Amino acid sequence: MFELDRFIADCRDAVTADPTPKAVREVVSRAVADPTAVLAGLGTPRRAEVQTLYSGGELTILNVIWGPRMTIMPHNHLMWVVIGIYTGREDNIFWRRVPGAADGRIEAAGAKSLGERDAEPLGRDIIHTVTNPLARLTGAIHVYDGDFFAVARSEWDPETLLEQDYDLEKNMRLFEAANRA
Ligand SMILES: [Fe+2]
Repeated sequence: MFELDRFIADCRDAVTADPTPKAVREVVSRAVADPTAVLAGLGTPRRAEVQTLYSGGELTILNVIWGPRMTIMPHNHLMWVVIGIYTGREDNIFWRRVPGAADGRIEAAGAKSLGERDAEPLGRDIIHTVTNPLARLTGAIHVYDGDFFAVARSEWDPETLLEQDYDLEKNMRLFEAANRA
């Protein structure tokens, strides 16, 4: 059984006890080990959206529902995050800054595909692109080690791969665009 209040309390306790993602990962891993329970607790995804489940200064917990075949542009977080998938799949492309590039240009560095029941940490300096490769919605719990909505960070133009300021509103609108598509 997945109880949101219990889950939030467990994540907060975990990050208090352990500033690394390890303890939070265990909490998220336990939750997504039973995807049916998470679906019952959070509701079956109906549309692409980002639901804020908890927003405190020390932690942000999001229910991220990716539209079918939706892709968002490369971005960083500047805080670690634990991602747990409870339905569908998130394909990640990881990027690194080209050494010495003054314009912040990035190059591809790796990839990781996360599926149902996976709970994985991403380090604070990770730059990634997320794609939902499926023709249906993907649902994931994201637990960020800080205030996701307040930190100034970067995104990269997907065509030129040049760095620019992260535009939160634009990224949120991508979810609405996915619903219209
Ligand atoms: Fe991200």
